[in-house]
Amino acid sequence: MADTLEDVRPLFELRGRNYIVTGGAQGIGFACTRAICEMGGNVAVFDIQEKPVPEFDGLAAKFGTRTLYVRTDVTKEDSIRAAFDRALAEFGSIHGCVPAAGIAIDKPFLEQTWDEFTRIQDINVRGTFFVVQMIAREMVKQKTGGSFVLLASQSAHIALPGYRMAAYNASKGGVLMLSKALAVELAPHGIRVNTISPGFVDSEMTRTVRELKSKREGEQMWLAPPNQRLSNQSDLTGAVVYLLSDAARHTTAADIQITGGLHAGTIDGLISYEAK
Ligand SMILES: NC(=O)c1ccc[n+]([C@@H]2O[C@H](COP(=O)([O-])OP(=O)(O)OC[C@H]3O[C@@H](n4cnc5c(N)ncnc54)[C@H](O)[C@@H]3O)[C@@H](O)[C@H]2O)c1
Repeated sequence: MADTLEDVRPLFELRGRNYIVTGGAQGIGFACTRAICEMGGNVAVFDIQEKPVPEFDGLAAKFGTRTLYVRTDVTKEDSIRAAFDRALAEFGSIHGCVPAAGIAIDKPFLEQTWDEFTRIQDINVRGTFFVVQMIAREMVKQKTGGSFVLLASQSAHIALPGYRMAAYNASKGGVLMLSKALAVELAPHGIRVNTISPGFVDSEMTRTVRELKSKREGEQMWLAPPNQRLSNQSDLTGAVVYLLSDAARHTTAADIQITGGLHAGTIDGLISYEAK
């Protein structure tokens, strides 16, 4: 029996594989880009910003991989088509994707507008849907299989008091279920689809939201997880690399909640939100 066991370290290797990360100009998407490069993968980043964070330019030399940045709007079909064609021309094949482009608006439900709702769904849900579709079509053609790691959120699971993000919650619930549907439909092609559900992560997105909160409201949220701190971007990258890699080759339709324990209860009396 022992002879049939495999070494685990090589299963995490991403060298020789090509990935697309949307929203990778900064924040969680950039953290994933860096982590994939560190594990040997080549990465094309699609993001609406003119330029990524300065560290992006040094990744290829630092880790001996290839990177490409394409200014892209994931809400526009011709924009993602052009970006995808460039990535394919550069790398020749695509083995995985982390569609991390996303926005959030912190505003009471009663005040949210049609335009705000539509913008959130366009980027978070429709942008994810069609980027994944474009890449999955290529994977099917390549017959290589592949792996997607979608960005759900604790917002797909729980609604915290004072957390005014109904349109965002709806979008992340959509991404979570999309991942399960695609995992089932694409499994015969050797394509795996999983999600991570982060809690509050220190990024531009939460910085904007945090500025709007009172100290009491903020602490109620950031310090609520049993781990009693805000997540940082590096708290997420190990799970993303795992799900992209062969170490997760039998893992699909899974969701990894990386919340410091918040999805199970709060530090304050360990109340389960989901049970309420
Ligand atoms: N920060 C958190 O607490 C948290 C928690 C759970 C999930 N998430 C999810 O993680 C992902 C990354 O969020 P982040 O915190 O790093 O935010 P962020 O604002 O730092 O990064 C989001 C990126 O998406 C890009 N983007 C926005 N609209 C785009 C468009 N139309 N086309 C292409 N790119 C576009 C932005 O330019 C930016 O680089 C999002 O999907 C978010 O919903 C974040």
